[in-house]
Amino acid sequence: MLNLTQKERMLLEDQKSHEQMCIDNYSDYAQRAKCSELKQLFNGYVTKEQQHLDSINQILSGTVPNVSGGQQQQQNQTQTQTFTPANTYDPQDALLCKDALMAEKYISGAYNTTIFECCDANVRQVLNHIQKEEQEHGEGIFNYMRSKGIYNPK
Ligand SMILES: [Fe+2]
Ligand SMILES: [Fe+2]
Repeated sequence: MLNLTQKERMLLEDQKSHEQMCIDNYSDYAQRAKCSELKQLFNGYVTKEQQHLDSINQILSGTVPNVSGGQQQQQNQTQTQTFTPANTYDPQDALLCKDALMAEKYISGAYNTTIFECCDANVRQVLNHIQKEEQEHGEGIFNYMRSKGIYNPK
């Protein structure tokens, strides 16, 4: 049974509300997106954010969740993608992407802050796993934006 400090509990409560926000936002964005590819991306993230929320709730109730299986995922998605931007995107979809990307960036940073306050090594592992997945969400949105010509970093 975990014995969380007040500081850990406070930071985890914040992460809990961030995860709930992500679930609500991605559900809404999946409905609003015009592009079916983007709908699919957002719907996949709803599932992942729900898992994150479940893990945070488990930690808050005193147990460390099992988050194995992250290794295999890593091997499947290491290649750098090359794009020929289509430049035919819906401007409303572009706004959804930018908003989602900004949120992922913020939340990833918030996990970083939380991890640095954790007493338990296993809790750190779980949060680190979640943080990595938030970065992968950001990567997915970033790649989508590049493929559609929404974002063209030079
Ligand atoms: Fe999340
Ligand atoms: Fe996320």
